Amino acid sequence: MSQKILLSGVKPTGSAHIGNYFGAMKQMVDLQNTGNYSCLIMIADYHALNFIQNKDEMKKLTFELALDYLAVGLDPKKIVIFKQSDISAHTELAWIFDTIVTVPYLERAHAFKDAEVKDKEINVGTFNYPVLMAADILLYNTDVVPVGQDQKQHIEYARDIALKFNHIFGPKNVAEYEDLIFKLPEPLILENVAVVPGVDGRKMSKSYGNTIPLFATREEITKAVMSIVTDSGKPEDGGKPMNVYNIHKLFKSEEKLRELYDMNKGKYKALKDALVEDIDAFIKPMRERRAELVKKPKKVMKILEKGAKQAGKIADKKLVEVKQAIGVL
Ligand code: ADP
Ligand code: TRP
Repeated sequence: MSQKILLSGVKPTGSAHIGNYFGAMKQMVDLQNTGNYSCLIMIADYHALNFIQNKDEMKKLTFELALDYLAVGLDPKKIVIFKQSDISAHTELAWIFDTIVTVPYLERAHAFKDAEVKDKEINVGTFNYPVLMAADILLYNTDVVPVGQDQKQHIEYARDIALKFNHIFGPKNVAEYEDLIFKLPEPLILENVAVVPGVDGRKMSKSYGNTIPLFATREEITKAVMSIVTDSGKPEDGGKPMNVYNIHKLFKSEEKLRELYDMNKGKYKALKDALVEDIDAFIKPMRERRAELVKKPKKVMKILEKGAKQAGKIADKKLVEVKQAIGVL
């Protein structure tokens, strides 16, 4: 069976937490390991430029995201990991799309509307965000794009833009599907992924300051776990402190946890100690792998360079097709 092409992008905007891991990174590693997909994982640094406008911070966050992905198990021997800014075809195609995408259409984007509520002076990069993302996806004949629910609209934009481009510049006989320029991508929405709660019980998020960092040391794990707001367990929850339990069940099966929580009813310290133990055991190998990689920045850079070469070949070929279709080549 031929492999489907899978592409996903991640903005380098801050330290990874266990919500990011269970909500996104783990699925990437699992999909890579099925062998059903030819995977491209992109560090979306040009998208991040809308938020990170400091040279040192951009360098640091980009390098860290590469480390994070390698440490959780993305394997550059099996997949392509690359940086968006290394491949100028992305921004070039985004410009070409700009000429066929209308302003009212982009004004309907959720992310734009949210940004508009917060700040009236929005930069053009934020407004054009879906166009660059469409270029990211369409350059690679992508079949599937694994994303969280919040990104679904962006995939719809990519599909609409592909259809419009194909309609304007593609072959006129629609039966010639094979000859259409852009393939229509499908979102792969990770529906069954639970929202990982933070130490205060709300969704774990950098912006709420309620995270457990993914590569935390034992001390950092202890500090975060001890700060979990302990609710006195309700009878309908079997007396379990749910803020602790809901995090714990990510690391151990509910079957195994039953006995522990039954034996330690009301003993929150003992339960938190057990949670620290389980998180630490889980994180340790990834933390160690990351610590090894940190010592080898050249190796990490080489991986990204190799990724850029592999991805660049595909992207450049598609861009030639596009330039021929619009009549500039
Ligand atoms: P944050 O909210 O910390 O800024 P991001 O928005 O950068 O996180 O999320 C990056 C990825 O991690 C997205 O795919 C998102 O769906 C996933 N993710 C983030 N927080 C959680 C969470 N608490 N539970 C599940 N998935 C999450
Ligand atoms: N917009 C995505 C996010 O915020 C990141 C992204 C950029 C992306 N380009 C992409 C995701 C292409 C999937 C495919 O999470």
